Amino acid sequence: MKSKIITIDGPAASGKEKISKYISKKWKFKHLDSGILYRRLAYIFKNDEINTDNISDIKKKLKNINTLSFRKNKNIRSEEIGKLASKIAIYNPVRDFVNKLQYNFVKKNNKKQGFVIDGRDIGSVVFKNADLKLFIEVNAKIRAKRRYKQLIDSGEKSIYRKILKEIKLRDKKDKLRKYSPLIVPKGAYIIDNNGSLKKVIKEINKLIVEL
Ligand code: C5P
Repeated sequence: MKSKIITIDGPAASGKEKISKYISKKWKFKHLDSGILYRRLAYIFKNDEINTDNISDIKKKLKNINTLSFRKNKNIRSEEIGKLASKIAIYNPVRDFVNKLQYNFVKKNNKKQGFVIDGRDIGSVVFKNADLKLFIEVNAKIRAKRRYKQLIDSGEKSIYRKILKEIKLRDKKDKLRKYSPLIVPKGAYIIDNNGSLKKVIKEINKLIVEL
């Protein structure tokens, strides 16, 4: 049987990760967070002092990277790296590089029952023929509040107004870029995650049962 693919797209801090993790555990689907790959690249570019305004420098660096770790750590979760990830995500060679890693991931794990993959362009570009596409919607202020709490709980210093400003900026960058902008993918279910997660999970489980 062919593995099922569920895509989860949505803006920064919309709860994609929590929802994906839930689905992965409940339905034994393999989870891939594509944002991690953009963040990993951003982290490498920052450490190696690559000029991220110069696409030739970026292309040169990409040629020397074979693969990326899919694991998260505190260093790549910061707002600074998120912002830089969003900056480099506008470039097509960067997107092609990350997409290739995603296709390999699915190919390598094809004995799995299914995949849940989250990001900004998963249902619209990377896995257009997914079995189920979800688009998560949450008001920017609620997202900022949740992200603020998350940072404070993890011991990072944070200012709510700054987080809100950065979230809005990242939304703008992700929605207005030329390649693979953040859109509601064709055929996607819009999931309202402004309220309780329990309600959202119930709604999503109903859709998965029908797959
Ligand atoms: O989801 P996360 O906040 O970790 O993503 C960091 C940045 O990576 C996003 O703001 C976005 O610009 C970029 N990204 C993307 N396409 C994806 C996943 C992430 O452009 N599929």
